[in-house]
Amino acid sequence: MKIELFSRIILITVLEIGAESANILVVNSMPSYSHFIIPFKLTKELASRGHHVTSINAYPQRTKLPNYTDVPVVENIPLIEEMKQKMFARGSNGMFENLFSLFDMTAVITNSTLYNKNVQKLLNSDKKFDLVIIEHFFNDAFVGFGHHFNAPVIFVSTQAASAMNGYVFANPLPFSYVSGNGGTLTKHMNFWQRIQNLLMHSVFNTLIHFYHLPKQSNIFKSYVQDAEMVQVLYNTSLMLTNSHVSVSGAIPLVPSIIEIGGLHVTTKRLPDDLQTFLDNAVEGVIVFSMGSNLKCEDLKLETRESILKAFSKIKQKVLWKYESNLPDTPENVKISPWLPQQDVLAHPNVKVFVTHGGRLSTIEAIYFGVPLVGIPVFGDQLSNIATAAADGYAVKINLEELSEQTLSSALNEVLTNPRYKEAAQERSNLLHDQLLTPMESAIFWVEHVIRHRGAPHLKTAGVDLKWYQREMVDVIVFLLAVVTIMILFHSLLFESAREKKEGCLKWYTGKLGFEEVEVGKEGV
Ligand SMILES: *[C@@H]1O[C@H](CO)[C@@H](O)[C@H](O)[C@H]1NC(C)=O
Ligand SMILES: *[C@@H]1O[C@H](CO)[C@@H](O)[C@H](O)[C@H]1NC(C)=O
Ligand SMILES: *[C@@H]1O[C@H](CO)[C@@H](O)[C@H](O)[C@H]1NC(C)=O
Repeated sequence: MKIELFSRIILITVLEIGAESANILVVNSMPSYSHFIIPFKLTKELASRGHHVTSINAYPQRTKLPNYTDVPVVENIPLIEEMKQKMFARGSNGMFENLFSLFDMTAVITNSTLYNKNVQKLLNSDKKFDLVIIEHFFNDAFVGFGHHFNAPVIFVSTQAASAMNGYVFANPLPFSYVSGNGGTLTKHMNFWQRIQNLLMHSVFNTLIHFYHLPKQSNIFKSYVQDAEMVQVLYNTSLMLTNSHVSVSGAIPLVPSIIEIGGLHVTTKRLPDDLQTFLDNAVEGVIVFSMGSNLKCEDLKLETRESILKAFSKIKQKVLWKYESNLPDTPENVKISPWLPQQDVLAHPNVKVFVTHGGRLSTIEAIYFGVPLVGIPVFGDQLSNIATAAADGYAVKINLEELSEQTLSSALNEVLTNPRYKEAAQERSNLLHDQLLTPMESAIFWVEHVIRHRGAPHLKTAGVDLKWYQREMVDVIVFLLAVVTIMILFHSLLFESAREKKEGCLKWYTGKLGFEEVEVGKEGV
């Protein structure tokens, strides 16, 4: 008894030390700030709690952070510059073209990260890691880091759980009420929309398994020779997703998927000029930003002019994130190349947020209870704004329809009808009403995986099955084959039975001396 107690104490101490100061590798190499920020904030928190983190990323710190080592891959930044500039035009491309170019782009970034000299140096060093955290965005080949360093892997996704990442965890996504990430469908779908959702998911899943994963697997082979990528991939321990029921609604989640939406929101003091501007706006402020990837200066000239006209007609002040000079701005409009968006949205005078509907922006708006006018451009922005509109805290404007008239009427609707503010506030209350803050929850689960060496108990048996077994394709094909064979067999039997029966009848009628009479001719 005593010995048992003693060994338990030792075990607990060992476990706690194990989680107290772990060596963690973070792969956060996507050259886009909206992908970088969540893993970065999590990494900084882990470092401040005594873990030693090494982060592969494109945004190295200027002043060294304690317990935090950068492995810079700044060479990744130019890889998507061209794509960023084309983004306003991309909406008109077909879905397929967008998907193929997305898979190709992410493969290039994955490969160039692995071949970066700093990363090669790390791979060839004798460094040891207890855990690998990967910002997951079509870069599955990175699970090789876990294999290489013999450490469990955690994914962090800037998105919600969806077809983009759910396959790794065999997370069920019923097509009848979970809509695709890139479209405008919401959770309530009619018959035709459910057909559309099924087809969209099927195309997407097919591309994932027959185009994207083989591509990543090739890259994986260039640095891991003694394993198959899919085996290592389906062994991933956990995924932290940037979602919460208040933002993205309720969907089924396996125990290895943890929602941490809101983790990136942390406020600090506003710069003096913005503080004064916001404080003095007694009629309220409208904040306008299209996020970090889209540049408003890339908008068409007439679109920009109509936006300014719409703004000039309202009594509220406007704060517009605009990257260069904008001549003839009306008196109530202040432009700024950069905004501390969270701190601005936190100000009580902010009445409406005009946004592209990126996930981070949407969550920030909900966090501070600010209603939206959404102008989605590509990717998940469409479904984020569709969801926000369905949940009653947003009015949507299609980019092609953006004009003085549509913007004015959308602003007017959100400013004068109190239901938008009320719905946003209700969502905000839900996001704040949690057992742990998103950051505490993320830290708990990361340390849980370290303490339990990969936490295999969180996985469902689904990850051990091939995709067609998970989806029951093999069973359905088998049953269809059995039914088909039975029908064929039955009709053959039936055919020969009928022939026999007809033979019998002829013989019988002949025997009794009946004559065959043509019906209808009788008695005429
Ligand atoms: C760095 O990690 C050590 C433990 O390894 C911890 O004692 C220290 O507080 C950490 N430093 C900071 C500034 O968080
Ligand atoms: C799966 O992960 C666990 C924990 O990291 C590890 O011990 C095991 O070897 C891995 N299995 C495979 C097949 O990679
Ligand atoms: C990855 O990059 C290396 C070095 O630039 C190149 O030789 C290799 O062909 C690339 N591999 C793939 C799969 O693109």
